Amino acid sequence: MTQPDLTFDEILTTTRAVRKRLDISRKVPRALLEECLELAFQAPNGSNKNLWRWIIVDDPDMVAKLGAEYRLAMGILQSGQQTSMFSDTSDSREEAKLLESAYALADKIEQMPALLIPLMPGRAEGKSVVEQAAMWGSIVQAVWSFMLALRSRGLGSCWATVTSRREKEIAALLGIPYEDYTQVGMFPIAYTIGTDFRKAWRKPVAEVLRYNRF
Ligand SMILES: Cc1cc2nc3c(=O)[nH]c(=O)nc-3n(C[C@H](O)[C@H](O)[C@H](O)COP(=O)(O)O)c2cc1C
Repeated sequence: MTQPDLTFDEILTTTRAVRKRLDISRKVPRALLEECLELAFQAPNGSNKNLWRWIIVDDPDMVAKLGAEYRLAMGILQSGQQTSMFSDTSDSREEAKLLESAYALADKIEQMPALLIPLMPGRAEGKSVVEQAAMWGSIVQAVWSFMLALRSRGLGSCWATVTSRREKEIAALLGIPYEDYTQVGMFPIAYTIGTDFRKAWRKPVAEVLRYNRF
């Protein structure tokens, strides 16, 4: 079975960063991706301007080229630069598990059935906080909705921003005018191997929530 039978709350709590369990042997139909995007586009966005642009790459040669960029971006990490996405866990075993999973994705990303690159107009560099809040706040919900829609259909993805380290090179490969668009990240897309994903650890609400003042 590829289409899991999940409640809304189950989709919210079990949509994981899928890396090892992406099935690279199975093609993903474009119609299915377009269906997921249709759903994602119902997400809120600033003044409903729909400024986003979306590129899905499913040409195997191009996927391979972008996959190579992904690996190069990971290579930069390997040579010692720490990244915030992997440094926010106090448990080093957890961190090791995460890194192992991250490199497992890098190993096979060149063979993904599809990759998604969402774009927002303008360069993030130099934007004020107000402008940045509007920019990121007009795309993140849609991307997450897309990932939830994938999950409900038996597919998975992984939010990956490491590719921003190779944004210029990726822009050149895809013909994106670098000065005019900022890439949100690169999202591998595939059916998942099995559909049983679990709830993840998060800090408890009581630890991070305050009422009425900081
Ligand atoms: C902004 C952001 C950037 C991320 N970048 C990467 C990345 O470049 N590579 C990667 O393998 N995972 C990346 N992740 C996935 C996170 O590591 C993952 O969401 C986190 O470990 C929690 O796991 P979960 O989503 O399965 O609960 C990113 C996630 C977010 C939200």
